[in-house]
Amino acid sequence: MSGIKVLVALDTGVDRAAVENALPVDTEIQIVGLVDGLEESWATLQEVPADLLLVGCAGYSDRALYLIDGAVKQDTDRPVMVLADGSPNGFVKRVFEAGADDILTLPQQPDDLLFAIQKAVARKQGATSSGSVAVSPMICVLGPKGGTGKTLTACNLAVGLAVAGYRVAIVDLDLQFGDVGLSLGLAPEKTIYDLAKSGGSMDADKLDGYLATHESGVRALLAPTRPDHAGLITTEFLREVYSTLRATHDYLIVDTPPGFTPEVIASIDSSSHICVVGMLDSLSLKNTKLGMETLDLMGYDRDRTRFVLNRADSRVGISIEDVIAIVGRAPDVAIPSDRDIPVSVNSGTPIVLAKGRSDAAKAFRNLTALYNGGAPTRNGRMRLFGRKA
Ligand SMILES: Nc1ncnc2c1ncn2[C@@H]1O[C@H](COP(=O)(O)OP(=O)(O)OP(=O)(O)O)[C@@H](O)[C@H]1O
Ligand SMILES: [Mg+2]
Repeated sequence: MSGIKVLVALDTGVDRAAVENALPVDTEIQIVGLVDGLEESWATLQEVPADLLLVGCAGYSDRALYLIDGAVKQDTDRPVMVLADGSPNGFVKRVFEAGADDILTLPQQPDDLLFAIQKAVARKQGATSSGSVAVSPMICVLGPKGGTGKTLTACNLAVGLAVAGYRVAIVDLDLQFGDVGLSLGLAPEKTIYDLAKSGGSMDADKLDGYLATHESGVRALLAPTRPDHAGLITTEFLREVYSTLRATHDYLIVDTPPGFTPEVIASIDSSSHICVVGMLDSLSLKNTKLGMETLDLMGYDRDRTRFVLNRADSRVGISIEDVIAIVGRAPDVAIPSDRDIPVSVNSGTPIVLAKGRSDAAKAFRNLTALYNGGAPTRNGRMRLFGRKA
């Protein structure tokens, strides 16, 4: 994602240093102006292109409301955010009524402001570019920490749904180190990078030419083969990919890299469901809790989130009660550690196919059932397909 250009407008009376201290020093954000006075800011806004307007004000400010209103009317696609010293009575409501996307109080940590800015931009882009009504479920598989079993879960969920007869697409959003292709035994002949590079408008037929087909029927849009190719994938492009795949499949599964990158945030915003994968160790569980809290902050409905606990063996000395105490909720599904899992990953055959009777495969089938309402199969029939010899 290229840098987000932010114009900062400072109302009289606001603590300039507090605003400056809150500004993220990050290559993703480019401060194109820090203007004293809201009238001056309005003038600057006409001349300097900005992706987001950030208004700093001391308290209740009619001038700020006036500026927000004008800026939103002038360009409905450009998000407006407010940084206020406290949240005086009624001001928050008026700020949103004027059309602002978010309001934060000072002081503010730069990381939190950065996250809020990225979220506001990603949301606006989604609202303007997706347009059509999303149809099929889109399940975003998340885990704030690396190596928790996200790819394992995404692939087994996708294959589990496909075996049950559903049309399933999977997108590997781990743009730098994606390994959905390896896990499914698919060669990256064409990847998401080739699709992005091809340019032009997106449609189902075109997209179809970039999908690899797994023996289960899962269609996969694979990650770039080189990490430096990731830069070409924008959030707008992803939203088009998602809405096209959702129109032509029963389920869309998205495997993600660790953490909340702008692409992951855009995917969360697009998705109908989330699957958080945590591991049974205290560090991973702490990160899982933080991840769940971040989803809360983003306004993501907890009922649409499932929690998978991976490597859930009693021997590590952490009980389910401990998990509930740390994360704040019980896992929906627990996946045991199983030596056949690395074997299945290495051979490119997900465990639900490679060892269908194992406890791990059963656990993944339980997860599948959570997303298809418990129906054993679509139309009551298993999908028939040739297995590898
Ligand atoms: N329950 C398990 N039992 C045995 N091995 C497992 C289990 N879960 C994961 N693994 C192994 O751990 C490794 C990491 O799993 P996976 O790639 O799914 O994690 P990830 O969250 O996608 O990682 P990354 O953040 O790097 O993308 C895999 O090689 C897999 O074989
Ligand atoms: Mg992974």
